[in-house]
Amino acid sequence: MQSPDSVKIAFLGGGNMARALIAGLLRNAVPAHRISVGEPESAARETLERELRVQAGPDNGEAIRGAYLVVLAVKPQQAEEALRASYAALHERGPVLLSIAAGLRIADLRRVCPPGMAVVRAMPNRPALLGAGVTGLYAPPDVAAGQRGLAELVGAAAGRAVWLRAEAEIDVVTALSGSGPAYFFLLAEHMARAAEALGLAPDTAALLAAGTLHGAGLLANEAPDLAAQRAAVTSRGGTTEAALQVLREGGFETLVARAMQAAAARSVELADMLGAALQARRQ
Ligand SMILES: NC(=O)c1ccc[n+]([C@@H]2O[C@H](COP(=O)([O-])OP(=O)(O)OC[C@H]3O[C@@H](n4cnc5c(N)ncnc54)[C@H](OP(=O)(O)O)[C@@H]3O)[C@@H](O)[C@H]2O)c1
Repeated sequence: MQSPDSVKIAFLGGGNMARALIAGLLRNAVPAHRISVGEPESAARETLERELRVQAGPDNGEAIRGAYLVVLAVKPQQAEEALRASYAALHERGPVLLSIAAGLRIADLRRVCPPGMAVVRAMPNRPALLGAGVTGLYAPPDVAAGQRGLAELVGAAAGRAVWLRAEAEIDVVTALSGSGPAYFFLLAEHMARAAEALGLAPDTAALLAAGTLHGAGLLANEAPDLAAQRAAVTSRGGTTEAALQVLREGGFETLVARAMQAAAARSVELADMLGAALQARRQ
């Protein structure tokens, strides 16, 4: 595999997620002059050039020139247009395409790409904005090891990356790590509200709830055996055990499982809708 300082990576779309991934690549020793961005908004281009020192232009074909890896970082509804505008450059260069566009399946992406193009999908999550993301990656068997390595370089740039066994697992990843931060925020919100009801000042409750979420996350990251981490906080007959007992009796586990099932099912539904819309436009 190429070393980070010799790769050439192009981004189509220079929004929030692209900026987070580019910042991670720069931290991981990819030089700024090896990264280019195709981005229609002049204000976004100025931000990219000022803050990250990467080349940004309005022409996707120009951005792709010489790239080994092209990251599709536009909103799913913008993907078709972005790829069409890049078709000639993609055809000429034959890079691997890494799509972070939620819900766009590889088969749908391939319909608007040059024939035989290697396509990898990634599902990052919002903590990537701070370099603390986790990303699920899937590559079909026809993607070569070197191309996987390049995709992983980007996936790992904003935190950790993990390879999935099947594309359908992306829907589970969406339910788990994609939507997951919101579940923890909701739990912390409810904890703060309950603490207020028990007498704490609102600011104090919010600060303690957010700080607890942060600290628990750091501990989980250090040693990811979550059951062991929970056991370490729970002494027999103590306060934590009293709270966990109430959660268990109230059906917490079933509720979490149902919430995850709803998110995964919605992910499939949205991907079906996107795929059908793409098909309809081609007929
Ligand atoms: N943000 C997250 O937490 C998160 C998590 C997982 C996955 N994702 C996925 O990441 C992708 C990007 O999300 P984001 O939050 O970074 O969105 P974003 O901030 O809206 O960035 C998309 C950028 O692409 C630009 N663009 C539009 N059409 C283009 C074209 N034809 N060629 C090149 N660039 C074009 C947009 O410009 P305009 O503003 O002019 O439209 C915008 O600057 C989405 O597909 C999303 O599903 C995001």
